[in-house]
Amino acid sequence: MSILDAAGSAARQQFWVWWAMLAVAVAVSLGVYALWFYTFCRREPASRTPREERRIMLRWVLGGGIALPVVSIVALLVFAAPTGRGMLPFPEGEAERIEVIGHQWWWEVRYPGEGEEREVVTANRLVMPAGEPVDFHLTSDDVIHAFWIPRLGGKRDMVPGRDSIVRLEADSPGVFGAQCAEYCGAQHTHMLLHVEALERDAFDAWLAERRSSPELQPGFDQAREAFGEHCAACHAVAGFPDELVVDDLEHDIRGPDLSDIGSRPTLGAGVLPMEEGAIAYWLQHHQTLKPGNRMPPHHHIDTETLHEIGAWLETLEP
Ligand code: CUA
Repeated sequence: MSILDAAGSAARQQFWVWWAMLAVAVAVSLGVYALWFYTFCRREPASRTPREERRIMLRWVLGGGIALPVVSIVALLVFAAPTGRGMLPFPEGEAERIEVIGHQWWWEVRYPGEGEEREVVTANRLVMPAGEPVDFHLTSDDVIHAFWIPRLGGKRDMVPGRDSIVRLEADSPGVFGAQCAEYCGAQHTHMLLHVEALERDAFDAWLAERRSSPELQPGFDQAREAFGEHCAACHAVAGFPDELVVDDLEHDIRGPDLSDIGSRPTLGAGVLPMEEGAIAYWLQHHQTLKPGNRMPPHHHIDTETLHEIGAWLETLEP
């Protein structure tokens, strides 16, 4: 997750802005130290007239206090403005659109469909095409989060009630770390996003698998019934039968869509690696692993049922 290891055009421009700012900051610091040193070494003139005092003071105020900051800030601005502009969605409508919504404390990622196409929804994993610009439409469901993929560029605040767009591009396929970059509550640290850039063909295939009508594996009847009773009010699964959903909650808190959870690399937005048994473990210990997360504890559900639900969820991948 280093900005100094840029893997996209926006990140590369930001990399140079970073070095330019560092260079200016170092030059200013050295200048200040040199002056400081000079004040110790020089010999005071015997006396100065008030007029001379005033002239010296004015020189410092105008030169060091006004001219120097104006020149250096304008220079940095001229250097940095094209970088900011490069992350705006211009020209419009020429990039893949991916929507990212921040939640306490996880990421919702949506790929809108055109016309009859089914919208694809996933969580805590962002798959994007490489070698072309992608417009990320950002917002938040609760508090302010920030979208940041250090090696690709950013960052951009995700503000509730507002849609902001950042255009980023990955030079070539690869996996990139991303992290919420705005303190958003107790589990801000556990708000990691796994970003994968794929070749265009592989990206299209990845999306097409998820756009096609979902078919749930046969079996796991008990697990599905239990899921419908305990989980389905908050968590959607594409193709899950409506008649199994028991929704007696009086809130509209949304949990991550679980339609392809079996294919995701982590659980709990980066808390656990996805491996056999991990979901059942998460279901039992999630309030210890990620205290304060919005999913209530499951003390009222027996361990066997949690294991069944976990085993079924692991089969959910296209
Ligand atoms: Cu979300 Cu910090």
